[in-house]
Amino acid sequence: MAKDVIVACDFSSAERTLEFLDLFKGRKPFVKIGMELYYAAGPEIVREIKKRGHKIFLDLKLHDIPNTVRKTMSVLSQLDVDMTNLHAAGTIEMMKAALEGLTREDGSRPILIAVTQLTSTSEQRMQEELLINASISECIAKYAENTREAGLDGVVCSPLEAGIIKERCGANFLTITPGVRFADAAKDDQVRITTPAKARELGSDYIVVGRPITAAEFPVAAYERCVAEFLGE
Ligand code: C5P
Repeated sequence: MAKDVIVACDFSSAERTLEFLDLFKGRKPFVKIGMELYYAAGPEIVREIKKRGHKIFLDLKLHDIPNTVRKTMSVLSQLDVDMTNLHAAGTIEMMKAALEGLTREDGSRPILIAVTQLTSTSEQRMQEELLINASISECIAKYAENTREAGLDGVVCSPLEAGIIKERCGANFLTITPGVRFADAAKDDQVRITTPAKARELGSDYIVVGRPITAAEFPVAAYERCVAEFLGE
């Protein structure tokens, strides 16, 4: 199974993003493009980064009626991204529609993963505002099972949840995990963090790393350190 480090390019303009990616002369990182950059720079930035030889995780977290999600996924698939995502809360029907839309005529498709509960949602708010009576960990596990049942490839989760999700959904079900920090570095606003090496031990398939690389004094060296620790290269 492919394991990799995904660099979260949380920049607000195409210029700043390309300037950052220009630093990488050797190994081309797998990059995550989120809503901020996509809404600022549009599909053109995806095409440009693809042209430069990077794999792309387009993190747009779709959540709408099945028909709209199917058609939107079809557009994203033609953009030739390598991974994209949606909210599992959109139901199994929506997730199945997304897979249909994403699948190209030749049967190939980008990896499709789901967000279960956002880490910004507390158990208290989930229960009081969303009227979900389960515990948040049970809710996350159930949404992950729904994701697998719909035929998707995996979920975004904390590295600390990767083990339980693999237990419930199988070893081949992918876990894509943010919240990664070097042992000797700042946590920023992340609370539950692990190091790249620990994330590997816990069973993460892909780690998503932003500021420890993008805000480093030497981003390429930070990226290479991250790859070395995570992949054991
Ligand atoms: O800079 P940092 O390493 O904290 O960036 C982590 C990336 O992963 C950001 O793009 C953030 O939005 C994303 N993310 C996260 N926690 C989640 C889901 C996504 O940090 N639960």
